[in-house]
Amino acid sequence: MAGAMLREGDLIYLLDDRGRRHFLILSGGMMKVAGLGVIDGSRLVDRPEGSVLRVGERGFHALRPGANELMESLDRGPQVITPKDAATIVFRLDLKPGDAVLESGVGSGSLTTALLNAVGAEGLVISVELREEFAAKARRNVERSPFAKAWDLRIGDVASVAVEAQVDAVALDVPAPWLALENVNGFLRPGGRLCA
Ligand SMILES: C[S@@+](CC[C@H](N)C(=O)[O-])C[C@H]1O[C@@H](n2cnc3c(N)ncnc32)[C@H](O)[C@@H]1O
Repeated sequence: MAGAMLREGDLIYLLDDRGRRHFLILSGGMMKVAGLGVIDGSRLVDRPEGSVLRVGERGFHALRPGANELMESLDRGPQVITPKDAATIVFRLDLKPGDAVLESGVGSGSLTTALLNAVGAEGLVISVELREEFAAKARRNVERSPFAKAWDLRIGDVASVAVEAQVDAVALDVPAPWLALENVNGFLRPGGRLCA
Protein backbone atom coordinates (compact mmCIF):
# COMPACT_ATOMS: atom_id res chain seq x y z
CA MET A 1 0.00 0.00 0.00
CA ALA A 2 1.38 3.46 -0.88
CA GLY A 3 2.11 5.84 2.03
CA ALA A 4 0.80 9.40 2.25
CA MET A 5 2.44 11.70 -0.29
CA LEU A 6 5.36 13.92 0.68
CA ARG A 7 4.61 17.59 0.06
CA GLU A 8 6.66 20.77 -0.20
CA GLY A 9 7.00 22.34 3.26
CA ASP A 10 6.79 18.97 5.09
CA LEU A 11 9.27 18.28 7.87
CA ILE A 12 10.84 14.96 6.89
CA TYR A 13 13.97 13.00 7.63
CA LEU A 14 16.18 10.88 5.42
CA LEU A 15 17.05 7.60 7.13
CA ASP A 16 20.41 6.17 6.13
CA ASP A 17 21.57 2.55 6.25
CA ARG A 18 23.22 3.13 9.66
CA GLY A 19 19.98 4.35 11.24
CA ARG A 20 21.00 8.03 11.19
CA ARG A 21 18.33 10.62 10.55
CA HIS A 22 18.92 13.75 8.47
CA PHE A 23 16.11 16.26 9.04
CA LEU A 24 14.99 18.79 6.45
CA ILE A 25 12.03 20.86 5.32
CA LEU A 26 11.15 19.49 1.90
CA SER A 27 11.32 21.91 -1.00
CA GLY A 28 11.08 21.34 -4.73
CA GLY A 29 14.61 22.60 -5.48
CA MET A 30 18.21 21.84 -4.60
CA MET A 31 18.68 21.59 -0.81
CA LYS A 32 21.82 21.56 1.30
CA VAL A 33 21.47 18.90 3.98
CA ALA A 34 23.98 18.77 6.85
CA GLY A 35 26.09 15.61 6.62
CA LEU A 36 24.77 14.73 3.14
CA GLY A 37 25.58 17.58 0.79
CA VAL A 38 23.18 18.86 -1.85
CA ILE A 39 20.09 16.85 -2.78
CA ASP A 40 17.36 17.45 -5.31
CA GLY A 41 14.08 17.83 -3.36
CA SER A 42 11.98 17.58 -6.54
CA ARG A 43 12.76 13.84 -6.56
CA LEU A 44 10.72 13.46 -3.34
CA VAL A 45 7.88 15.99 -3.71
CA ASP A 46 4.55 14.23 -4.45
CA ARG A 47 6.18 10.83 -3.91
CA PRO A 48 4.87 8.40 -1.26
CA GLU A 49 6.32 8.50 2.25
CA GLY A 50 9.02 5.83 2.49
CA SER A 51 10.35 6.53 -1.02
CA VAL A 52 14.07 5.90 -1.46
CA LEU A 53 16.29 8.77 -2.55
CA ARG A 54 19.58 7.69 -4.13
CA VAL A 55 22.60 9.91 -3.51
CA GLY A 56 25.61 8.41 -5.27
CA GLU A 57 25.95 4.84 -4.01
CA ARG A 58 23.73 5.42 -0.98
CA GLY A 59 19.96 5.08 -0.50
CA PHE A 60 17.88 7.09 2.00
CA HIS A 61 14.29 6.42 3.05
CA ALA A 62 12.26 9.66 3.21
CA LEU A 63 9.95 9.59 6.25
CA ARG A 64 7.85 11.92 8.38
CA PRO A 65 8.92 12.05 12.04
CA GLY A 66 6.58 10.74 14.73
CA ALA A 67 6.67 11.98 18.35
CA ASN A 68 9.60 9.65 19.12
CA GLU A 69 11.81 11.11 16.36
CA LEU A 70 10.74 14.68 17.19
CA MET A 71 11.70 14.15 20.83
CA GLU A 72 15.03 12.53 19.99
CA SER A 73 16.01 15.33 17.60
CA LEU A 74 14.99 18.41 19.58
CA ASP A 75 17.35 21.19 20.55
CA ARG A 76 17.97 20.45 24.25
CA GLY A 77 18.10 22.96 27.07
CA PRO A 78 17.21 21.70 30.56
CA GLN A 79 16.98 17.99 31.36
CA VAL A 80 14.35 16.43 29.08
CA ILE A 81 11.85 13.64 29.62
CA THR A 82 12.81 10.83 27.24
CA PRO A 83 10.33 8.94 25.02
CA LYS A 84 10.47 5.90 27.35
CA ASP A 85 9.45 7.91 30.43
CA ALA A 86 6.97 10.00 28.43
CA ALA A 87 5.20 6.80 27.33
CA THR A 88 4.72 5.80 30.97
CA ILE A 89 3.50 9.29 31.91
CA VAL A 90 1.00 9.42 29.03
CA PHE A 91 -0.33 5.97 29.99
CA ARG A 92 -0.56 6.66 33.71
CA LEU A 93 -2.33 9.97 33.04
CA ASP A 94 -4.74 7.92 30.90
CA LEU A 95 -4.57 10.54 28.14
CA LYS A 96 -6.88 10.10 25.18
CA PRO A 97 -7.63 12.05 21.99
CA GLY A 98 -9.55 15.22 22.89
CA ASP A 99 -8.33 15.43 26.52
CA ALA A 100 -7.06 18.65 28.08
CA VAL A 101 -3.79 18.38 30.02
CA LEU A 102 -1.68 20.95 31.84
CA GLU A 103 2.08 20.52 32.22
CA SER A 104 4.77 22.55 33.92
CA GLY A 105 7.54 23.47 33.22
CA VAL A 106 7.99 23.18 29.53
CA GLY A 107 11.82 22.95 29.52
CA SER A 108 12.79 21.96 25.99
CA GLY A 109 9.28 20.78 25.11
CA SER A 110 10.09 17.09 25.04
CA LEU A 111 7.18 15.91 27.21
CA THR A 112 4.99 18.53 25.49
CA THR A 113 5.58 16.73 22.17
CA ALA A 114 4.40 13.43 23.68
CA LEU A 115 1.37 15.02 25.36
CA LEU A 116 0.29 16.67 22.09
CA ASN A 117 0.62 13.38 20.29
CA ALA A 118 -1.66 11.70 22.86
CA VAL A 119 -4.45 14.31 22.95
CA GLY A 120 -4.23 15.10 19.21
CA ALA A 121 -5.73 17.93 17.19
CA GLU A 122 -9.01 17.97 19.16
CA GLY A 123 -7.23 18.09 22.53
CA LEU A 124 -5.45 20.81 24.47
CA VAL A 125 -2.00 20.99 26.09
CA ILE A 126 -1.45 23.99 28.38
CA SER A 127 2.24 24.42 29.25
CA VAL A 128 3.28 26.78 32.05
CA GLU A 129 6.93 27.85 32.08
CA LEU A 130 8.69 30.25 34.42
CA ARG A 131 11.53 31.27 32.13
CA GLU A 132 11.13 33.11 28.83
CA GLU A 133 14.32 31.65 27.32
CA PHE A 134 13.20 28.05 27.88
CA ALA A 135 9.77 28.90 26.50
CA ALA A 136 11.41 30.31 23.35
CA LYS A 137 13.48 27.17 22.83
CA ALA A 138 10.46 24.95 23.50
CA ARG A 139 8.45 26.93 20.96
CA ARG A 140 10.98 26.18 18.22
CA ASN A 141 10.98 22.49 19.13
CA VAL A 142 7.24 22.00 19.65
CA GLU A 143 6.19 23.90 16.53
CA ARG A 144 7.56 20.93 14.54
CA SER A 145 4.73 18.75 15.95
CA PRO A 146 1.76 18.22 13.59
CA PHE A 147 -0.47 18.91 16.64
CA ALA A 148 1.13 22.23 17.64
CA LYS A 149 -2.20 24.05 17.04
CA ALA A 150 -3.51 22.31 20.18
CA TRP A 151 -0.78 23.93 22.28
CA ASP A 152 -1.21 26.86 24.67
CA LEU A 153 2.15 28.05 26.07
CA ARG A 154 2.04 30.45 29.03
CA ILE A 155 4.78 32.19 30.96
CA GLY A 156 4.19 31.99 34.70
CA ASP A 157 4.59 30.09 37.95
CA VAL A 158 2.52 26.91 38.10
CA ALA A 159 1.99 27.53 41.82
CA SER A 160 -0.05 30.65 41.09
CA VAL A 161 -1.00 30.75 37.38
CA ALA A 162 -4.70 31.29 36.69
CA VAL A 163 -6.22 28.51 34.57
CA GLU A 164 -9.80 29.12 33.53
CA ALA A 165 -10.54 25.68 32.01
CA GLN A 166 -10.88 22.34 33.81
CA VAL A 167 -8.29 19.83 32.70
CA ASP A 168 -8.31 16.02 32.65
CA ALA A 169 -4.71 15.63 33.80
CA VAL A 170 -1.68 17.51 35.15
CA ALA A 171 2.01 16.66 34.70
CA LEU A 172 4.49 18.52 36.92
CA ASP A 173 8.20 18.38 36.05
CA VAL A 174 9.38 21.18 38.36
CA PRO A 175 11.78 21.12 41.33
CA ALA A 176 9.05 21.59 44.00
CA PRO A 177 5.77 20.21 42.59
CA TRP A 178 4.10 20.17 46.03
CA LEU A 179 4.02 23.98 45.99
CA ALA A 180 1.60 23.80 43.04
CA LEU A 181 -0.92 21.35 44.51
CA GLU A 182 -3.28 23.93 45.99
CA ASN A 183 -3.45 25.80 42.68
CA VAL A 184 -3.84 22.56 40.67
CA ASN A 185 -6.77 21.64 42.91
CA GLY A 186 -8.66 24.57 41.37
CA PHE A 187 -8.53 23.34 37.74
CA LEU A 188 -7.95 19.54 37.75
CA ARG A 189 -11.34 17.91 37.24
CA PRO A 190 -12.68 15.48 39.82
CA GLY A 191 -11.21 12.07 38.97
CA GLY A 192 -8.48 13.69 36.86
CA ARG A 193 -4.92 12.40 37.21
CA LEU A 194 -1.75 14.02 38.47
CA CYS A 195 1.83 12.98 37.76
CA ALA A 196 4.81 14.68 39.41
C1 LIG B 1 13.39 19.66 33.94
S1 LIG B 1 12.75 21.03 33.09
C2 LIG B 1 11.30 20.37 32.29
C3 LIG B 1 11.64 19.50 31.09
C4 LIG B 1 10.46 19.13 30.25
N1 LIG B 1 9.50 18.33 30.98
C5 LIG B 1 10.91 18.41 28.99
O1 LIG B 1 10.59 17.21 28.85
O2 LIG B 1 11.58 19.01 28.14
C6 LIG B 1 12.01 21.98 34.39
C7 LIG B 1 11.42 23.30 33.90
O3 LIG B 1 10.54 23.78 34.91
C8 LIG B 1 10.64 25.20 34.91
N2 LIG B 1 10.11 25.62 36.23
C9 LIG B 1 10.71 25.49 37.44
N3 LIG B 1 9.88 25.92 38.41
C10 LIG B 1 8.73 26.33 37.80
C11 LIG B 1 7.50 26.87 38.28
N4 LIG B 1 7.29 27.08 39.57
N5 LIG B 1 6.53 27.18 37.37
C12 LIG B 1 6.75 26.98 36.05
N6 LIG B 1 7.89 26.45 35.54
C13 LIG B 1 8.89 26.13 36.40
C14 LIG B 1 12.12 25.45 34.67
O4 LIG B 1 12.35 26.77 34.21
C15 LIG B 1 12.45 24.37 33.62
O5 LIG B 1 12.23 24.86 32.32
